[in-house]
Amino acid sequence: MEPARLSISDHDVEFPVTVGSENEVGFDIRKLRGTTGAITVDPGFANTGSCKSGITFIDGENGILRYRGYAIEDLANHSSFLDVAYLLIYGNLPTRVELDDFHGEMTRHSLIHEDMKKFFEGYPPNAPPMSVLSTIVSSLSAFYPGTENGEDIDLNIRRLLAKLNTIAAFAFKKSIGQPYIYPRNNLGYAEDFLHMMFAVPSEDYEPHPLLVKTLDMLLILHADHEQNCSTSTVRMVGSSGADLFSSISAGISALSGPLHGGANTAVIEMLEMIRQDGGGFKKYVDKAKDKSDPFRLMGFGHRVYKNFDPRARVIKQIADEVLGELGIDDPLLDLAKELENIALEDEYFISRGLYPNVDFYSGILYRAMGIPTNMFTVMFALGRLPGWIAQWLEMKTDSDTRIYRPRQIYTGNNHREYVQIGRRCL
Ligand code: SDX
Repeated sequence: MEPARLSISDHDVEFPVTVGSENEVGFDIRKLRGTTGAITVDPGFANTGSCKSGITFIDGENGILRYRGYAIEDLANHSSFLDVAYLLIYGNLPTRVELDDFHGEMTRHSLIHEDMKKFFEGYPPNAPPMSVLSTIVSSLSAFYPGTENGEDIDLNIRRLLAKLNTIAAFAFKKSIGQPYIYPRNNLGYAEDFLHMMFAVPSEDYEPHPLLVKTLDMLLILHADHEQNCSTSTVRMVGSSGADLFSSISAGISALSGPLHGGANTAVIEMLEMIRQDGGGFKKYVDKAKDKSDPFRLMGFGHRVYKNFDPRARVIKQIADEVLGELGIDDPLLDLAKELENIALEDEYFISRGLYPNVDFYSGILYRAMGIPTNMFTVMFALGRLPGWIAQWLEMKTDSDTRIYRPRQIYTGNNHREYVQIGRRCL
């Protein structure tokens, strides 16, 4: 493709153009400052590619999402989360033998070091689970050092995938003052998580098969999403040479924000608020449109999707099925549907391409599983972990990778001669 040309002050500069496998076009500006002295400015990097990646493709205008070329709908309906985690990390769906080995590794490494339980003891009961998750994951660097040098990287990837379920369930049990339930080797990945969350020593507990299947599908739907805020954070931290666990810990912290993974919690809180307020949709839709009001319709809008988020479509469909089959009548589901209908007929949302995103309906399903609202974003992190790992690995092995270090346009004071104002305090 012809190079891109830029005319700036008295410079005419050409930049090579790169075209992706789905015909996305980007021009490579790595020589921009050296040839023109100027930089680009792109708050939030909405128009900036940080890397080339072969993991996930999103077509936001047409509501398309694919992991390693497979449509998200096909993976959600026909695959399992461990299949998809393997696909994202290793590039292809596993054979039967590879999957059995992978699942075996998940069971082999699902325990956490007994000394790590002391970390949980130090937290107050109301500690934010995402904060606990981020801290405990970071502490894995102390128990399994060397990943920054690539030592045992595959072993540590499998350790982390196996242990995050246990860490999340232990954080929940600690927050409600119940004894920890240890992982069981005879249970599947999602089944074992629900068992660790809801079993108690005094009675047998077997997760409902429909909830196990639903959780597995939700984990698939959250598994990766190209260069979103938390994934970019994982890549940025890893680009400094930091180890795997520290990089993932930083990603967990980035995901916790209400504009990102924290939105699934904020959606339920918003729906509850609307319900308490008598279901006055118009008031809240008007607030969301009012620029002077910080209120936003949580679970709506997306940086990339200007059409339906395909994940939201799948989740909305299974929410109907699961609640119907379990005989659960959650008024928030009907509220969410009504709110969606009103917003999608409103010019403000239509003109801005604001549709429900992955977080709009997911909380309804987590509630149906008995998962408390403050654990919703933890569920997002459990799903996103293989995507973070795959992206971190790709960054580590990409010869193009440099430490992330953006530039800025300075707008502060020009040089000022130093005049002592107060007296010098030594
Ligand atoms: C996730 O990036 C990913 O891939 C993320 C994610 C993933 O899988 O990793 O998909 C997961 O984070 C989903 C998003 C969850 N967040 C929310 O649901 C929070 C509510 N949504 C918004 O805050 C917002 O839509 C964002 C944060 C998602 C996107 O923000 P952008 O891309 O910076 O868009 P913007 O704020 O510039 O909005 C563009 C316009 C603005 O109006 P104008 O200035 O053009 O008049 O749309 C308006 C915004 O005011 N707008 C909203 C709105 N979202 C955008 N107005 C009301 N309610 C909203 N929810």
